[in-house]
Amino acid sequence: MHLTILVTGATGTVGCEVVKQLSMIDGDLRVRAGVHSIIKGENLKRLPGVEIVEMDFEDQESLHAAFTHVDKLFLVTPMAKDQVQMAKTLVDEAKKAGVKHIVKLSVMGADAEPGLQLGRWHRETEKYIEDSGIAYTFLRPASFMQNFVNYCGDTIKQEGKIYMPTGDGKVGYIDARDIAAVGVEALTGEGHEGKVYELTGPDAISHGEAARILSEVTGKQVEYVDVSGDAARKSMNEQGTPDWMADAMMELYDAHKAGYSEEVLDSVKAITDRKPHSFRQFAQDYKECFK
Ligand SMILES: NC(=O)c1ccc[n+]([C@@H]2O[C@H](COP(=O)([O-])OP(=O)(O)OC[C@H]3O[C@@H](n4cnc5c(N)ncnc54)[C@H](OP(=O)(O)O)[C@@H]3O)[C@@H](O)[C@H]2O)c1
Repeated sequence: MHLTILVTGATGTVGCEVVKQLSMIDGDLRVRAGVHSIIKGENLKRLPGVEIVEMDFEDQESLHAAFTHVDKLFLVTPMAKDQVQMAKTLVDEAKKAGVKHIVKLSVMGADAEPGLQLGRWHRETEKYIEDSGIAYTFLRPASFMQNFVNYCGDTIKQEGKIYMPTGDGKVGYIDARDIAAVGVEALTGEGHEGKVYELTGPDAISHGEAARILSEVTGKQVEYVDVSGDAARKSMNEQGTPDWMADAMMELYDAHKAGYSEEVLDSVKAITDRKPHSFRQFAQDYKECFK
């Protein structure tokens, strides 16, 4: 019997890797890549066994079509103001469509009390999934290594600088490819229903250490500039970051600075039987993005 898996946010950092890794699995597996924009999803079309479906989380009709005949869901929602409502709508659609298992991309410490705002949004969605009666697996990763490309890539390329307000705080950064590998195992393996997986990379590193590794790997000098909280917020304002997002990000950076995110876990290896990527390996694989 074939299995159809819908991946939402399929052009995003983790969603895209989940689609790629599912497409490499032999067997009667259909992968439906839910993309916000067909143009951005063009590359996914070439992957074996992958079909592309356009979906807008705020357009009910597009969701109905995307969920038709779906057995399992890899649920990614963006960092948007109405992310909880978006996720609830997707869970409602999943329920209507008879989806049997939801693997949700959440965040490390989502159930901490009082925790951080970023976690509280995810926990609200997690609770909604728990109450839906659909089997679930929650993936709660630390911050992504790919943030160095997505959020620091431009200043690294243009100035050889990483500007962040996190002092010497260390974070157990995880490669999105490892989060995806855990997601794929949760979707296709046995015994992951009802499980919550907190995920980190193999080491906790500071921005200073990350800059040193990036310098060594790329052969180009990269320097970490420890900016003040006020300077970081001003920069976000100038870039048009809305206040709700700047507040949540500053809270996260303060937690990083205070050392609350330096825990390192062996969960990726335990679940996938593969060692997670080190930051040095990530830097090596993505070095062209920093040059
Ligand atoms: N970044 C981290 O370090 C980190 C750590 C832990 C957890 N997380 C969580 O991971 C999740 C993904 O975050 P991210 O920053 O990595 O996001 P991302 O890669 O940008 O992924 C978000 C995806 O959602 C799509 N999307 C946005 N609005 C949509 C809409 N209205 N309808 C349909 N699709 C839509 C985006 O497509 P378009 O780009 O085409 O709009 C994109 O493919 C978030 O829930 C975040 O809290 C992130």
